Amino acid sequence: MPLARTHELLAHGPAFAFNVITIEHAEAIASAAEAANTPAILQISENAVKFHGGNLTPLATATAAVARTAAIPLALHLDHVESVELLHAAAAHDFSSVMFDASRLPYADNVKATAEAARWAHQRDLTLEAELGRIGGKPGDAHTPGVRTDPTEAARYVAETGVDALAVAVGSSHAMTTRTATLDHALIGELHRAVPVPLVLHGSSGVPDTELRRALAAGIRKVNVGTALNQAYTGAVRAFLEAHPSTVDPRKYLTPAREAMASAVATCLRIGDN
Ligand code: G3H
Ligand code: ZN
Repeated sequence: MPLARTHELLAHGPAFAFNVITIEHAEAIASAAEAANTPAILQISENAVKFHGGNLTPLATATAAVARTAAIPLALHLDHVESVELLHAAAAHDFSSVMFDASRLPYADNVKATAEAARWAHQRDLTLEAELGRIGGKPGDAHTPGVRTDPTEAARYVAETGVDALAVAVGSSHAMTTRTATLDHALIGELHRAVPVPLVLHGSSGVPDTELRRALAAGIRKVNVGTALNQAYTGAVRAFLEAHPSTVDPRKYLTPAREAMASAVATCLRIGDN
């Protein structure tokens, strides 16, 4: 089936976006979304591109090919892009949206860089997500679940930059391996009322199901999940190799790893269902 477009998915309701690092991630996401009959977003981060030697093409091409084989609409998103060069590379691939992440910059510099990225994206029929309020836990960053996005500043930021979706700091933090984050649901509601574009929750792996359900009810539209898939993948590989220490064929342990990721994706998609 042809690829979906991120903004069209978000226009229909909340959607989960899952990080792709290897082709097995893409296969797991596609098969679980198909089994659940629920559209989803496959996203490749700048860090994943760096892992693959800085060349976007191999992973983007493989991910798009896997996504097209699914009998459910799947969209492709390029995530946490700090490099303008990588932003520009998005246009040569099958992404319908990019997150340009200037959240490390002071407000005025963030606005300037993001407005320019949004102008560039819109000329190429791409939609642009940006981040205001620094969501912690990115590589090299501390976990900062206490950071918050201010609703008045968020409304001004969206007006000044022209972005199409906004990642907000509301209590989650990236790369959490325990599901212990508590979200500021009143703030999510305020941001939803103040900001005319879809709100994005990053670092969702650390957020319990009940908190995620409340966040969706309060106005979160895109839920980004990465670490939960990696925990499933690595846990399955570890268990397999502990039980079969002489295995050398990676297909033996990547099969249960891919199944474990698909099951993690299915668990998330069920949260969105009710
Ligand atoms: O942009 C990606 C997400 O925010 C993933 O965060 O790995 O903590 O689930 P996570
Ligand atoms: Zn993120």
